[in-house]
Amino acid sequence: MFRKFRDLYQNLFRWCLFLGLGFGSSAMGQEVTRTINILSDTSPYNREVMPLLWWSIGLSVLVLGGTGAALIYVVQKFRLRPTTVGEPAQFHGNNLLEMVLLGIPLVMVAVLSILTAQTLTRVNSIPKTGTLKVDVTGAQFWWDFNYPDLKIHTSNELVIQVGVPIELTVTSADVIHDFWITSLGAKRDAIPGQKAHFALTAEKPGVYYGQCLALCGASHANMRFHVVALSPEDFSAWKTKAIAYKPEPVATDSQIAAGRALFEGKGNCSGCHAIQGTAARGVVAPALSYFGDHMYLGAGIFKNERPKVKEWILNASKIKPGALMPSYDGTINTNMKNPQVPSLLTDPELESIAVYLESNKLGSDWRKKFGNEEY
Ligand code: CUA
Repeated sequence: MFRKFRDLYQNLFRWCLFLGLGFGSSAMGQEVTRTINILSDTSPYNREVMPLLWWSIGLSVLVLGGTGAALIYVVQKFRLRPTTVGEPAQFHGNNLLEMVLLGIPLVMVAVLSILTAQTLTRVNSIPKTGTLKVDVTGAQFWWDFNYPDLKIHTSNELVIQVGVPIELTVTSADVIHDFWITSLGAKRDAIPGQKAHFALTAEKPGVYYGQCLALCGASHANMRFHVVALSPEDFSAWKTKAIAYKPEPVATDSQIAAGRALFEGKGNCSGCHAIQGTAARGVVAPALSYFGDHMYLGAGIFKNERPKVKEWILNASKIKPGALMPSYDGTINTNMKNPQVPSLLTDPELESIAVYLESNKLGSDWRKKFGNEEY
């Protein structure tokens, strides 16, 4: 009975989201669409919070049913009939009834408060040691991830270890965003000048989907991210490679070398983007250090494939509304506060930059490892 009700509710919710997000996102030309399951029980955090949701829904249904039934009863019993003569009997005050009407909501609020306080205490506790620290910054319209202890910097795709509490400090570089890894729980606002501090744990290796949940501008719906959760051995191997990563000082492949020269020179990409081990140290745009490993482009909205990467470099705001990146097709990106007069990039030049970006990788193929499934 409970299961049936839960499934019905889940399906209803999915359809609402599908209709809402589905139409919204198709209007914005996203390549990758998906629905969110707010009732996911994949993580310990969500499993803690779920009973609260059911309590709230259960009590709400009780209130709705109770007041609805009382209303129908009263309207039916005391309505004006053809046989009614004169004023009905008048009542003034009924202490017992008032106490019951006040008592029921008080008990409900008390039950919900106690359950909420218990749940919050459990889910908000951050272990003193043994966590993996990650500083998260939301920006229009992407996510930045810094591991302060490991000195690893990446964007839009976060790599974590299963079984280890991930200690997150979330803030924003511009407007209010909202950080939410849907299947891991612990949604938090990313507010400029403030730091939200919390922890969550992934139990299963795999790819987790994340989404900004505060309306933050033209590409709010396109402000996604992904989390790759690895087994301790895999994470340790990834971490070692990531810390040590640097591209060849002078690439043996002439196209990669040309791409890097354009990235750091004519394109002036390094003014905004960072690539570990190179002169590119920009911090106002996503870090591209392991871009070759990334599954997605443009904060989770396109598959990371070369034609799309070239299209993106040529004019990002054309394919992602509000993207704050200069275009290289002769147009001026008016979304930017200080739009620069763009330099033009030819198709072979775009190709070289894309090849250079692809070459920045640790050799992790998450799709091969985990398939297309995402939590
Ligand atoms: Cu950032 Cu919505």
